[in-house]
Amino acid sequence: MMVTGPSPYSVQIVKDIDAKGGNVVDALVAGALELAVTHPYYGALGGGGFALVKINGEKTALDFREMAPKSANPDTYKDKDAKASLTGGLAVGVPGVPSGLYELHKKYGKLKWAQVVEPARLLAEKGFEVSGEWVKLTTRNHDRFTKDGQEIFFPKNQNLKPGDTLKQPQLAKFLKRYQKEGAKAFYEGANAREIVDVVNQTGGAFTTDDLKNYKVRWLKPMMTKFMGYDVSLMPPPSSGGVVIAQALKLVEKTKLVEKTQPLSVDEFHGLIEIEKLSYRNRSQLGDPDFAKNPTDDLLKDEALDKLASMIKPDKAIKSASLLTAEEKQTIENAAKEKAETTHMSVMDSQGNTIAMTVTLNGDYGSGLVTKSGIALNNEMDDFTTHPGKPNMFGLIQGEANAVRAGARPLSSMSPTIVEKDGQTVLSLGSPGGPRIISAVFQVIYRSLARNLDVDVAIQSPRVHHQFLPDQVKTDANKLPPESIEGLKAKGHSVDFSSTAKVYAIRRSSDGMLSAAADARGEGAAGGH
Ligand code: DON
Repeated sequence: MMVTGPSPYSVQIVKDIDAKGGNVVDALVAGALELAVTHPYYGALGGGGFALVKINGEKTALDFREMAPKSANPDTYKDKDAKASLTGGLAVGVPGVPSGLYELHKKYGKLKWAQVVEPARLLAEKGFEVSGEWVKLTTRNHDRFTKDGQEIFFPKNQNLKPGDTLKQPQLAKFLKRYQKEGAKAFYEGANAREIVDVVNQTGGAFTTDDLKNYKVRWLKPMMTKFMGYDVSLMPPPSSGGVVIAQALKLVEKTKLVEKTQPLSVDEFHGLIEIEKLSYRNRSQLGDPDFAKNPTDDLLKDEALDKLASMIKPDKAIKSASLLTAEEKQTIENAAKEKAETTHMSVMDSQGNTIAMTVTLNGDYGSGLVTKSGIALNNEMDDFTTHPGKPNMFGLIQGEANAVRAGARPLSSMSPTIVEKDGQTVLSLGSPGGPRIISAVFQVIYRSLARNLDVDVAIQSPRVHHQFLPDQVKTDANKLPPESIEGLKAKGHSVDFSSTAKVYAIRRSSDGMLSAAADARGEGAAGGH
């Protein structure tokens, strides 16, 4: 069994679970709970996420995305500044992680629930060594934290240094109750009241019923074909599946593989144009229980042929040229991201696998930390809080993603599984807000269309274009200056930055596994 994810502790946990006879879901749930202890800025129980699972040939998708509370409506943020959906009680959606992990285990786990929670509980009780990343992200959030957050993450009012040990006795106590009672320990009783209190004292409007009524959704993965492979993707409320499926189809339709050399300016130009046109339609998507998603129309051959015919080898399409008169009123803005999410994949040699992406949205989410030491998300910012205005990621969102009571905000998180003739080939995903989509798309492309080893596919340079703003983002120091000049000569505006970090496992036809983590950030891949 192999794992890839952000934390070195997870490799040991997965080995231990494997040795005890656990399966990939047991291992991933134990690993995800470990992240809740060691990576509270994105792994926390106060967030949400998606998982794609393949067990004994059966594939399912689990949506444990946050839900808007009953008090939310399209005008919640109307007269408020952009901060309202980022910091404090109004930023928080009802968390999905505690229910998601519990339901995943209930459906697929082999070991006892208490066994998969135990490694995380021990880490919370006995302490763990904080990393450089932990120190950086925790220190920069000091002033946003509630008093409980400051006391828990800055013990005795001190800044921890990398390598120092942090014990979280309050979280250990919660995990003990979670071991005994399952998801109820989070959504009912004392813990639910702790959440309602902290949210309502900081400008939000939660009731204990908002928590009690939270439900995960089991969905059918979205399927597409790419160069003879079967790709299982996350359907709405993620936009990832729809946008990646369009992009993969456009690679085929534009004959990018045949017409360009790997890593050439022409290839990057083609990838950028494909991304631009695929992201163009993202704003039409939303929670399927509230919006009618035009998924089938977007993936129709005629629609894709039309997009493919717009792509020219020498000249970048100007995003503005595709905007309607009404859309032209839209304010473009460079977004300042301070965001954290993470992904883990686990796979065994038979090809059973689970790919899971979880997030609080911004790092430490809303800045609210409960008395038990659980950081709460600011996922409400993923809704269309201010129509026509860019959100934290520079995304202009649509009506389909309006704030509504009980709805889940549109996401870019894209856990993905690839198969060939029924055999598992790849399991992958990434953090990075909208860049998740272009990163997962390009790693699939490099792995399958360019036949690169999984590690090389991940570390290769990537380009990101999300239609608006009309700008290519790429890694500094990965593309040679001539390539940047080549892209500019075709009319692209190029900026440097990268936040996506892909984690992937590849399986060969004889069952050999290779796992890799993106060197763009902290990560660990291993197992046997
Ligand atoms: O669901 C989404 O698309 C975002 N809330 C994810 C945020 C994210 O990936 C930030 N990470 N770096």
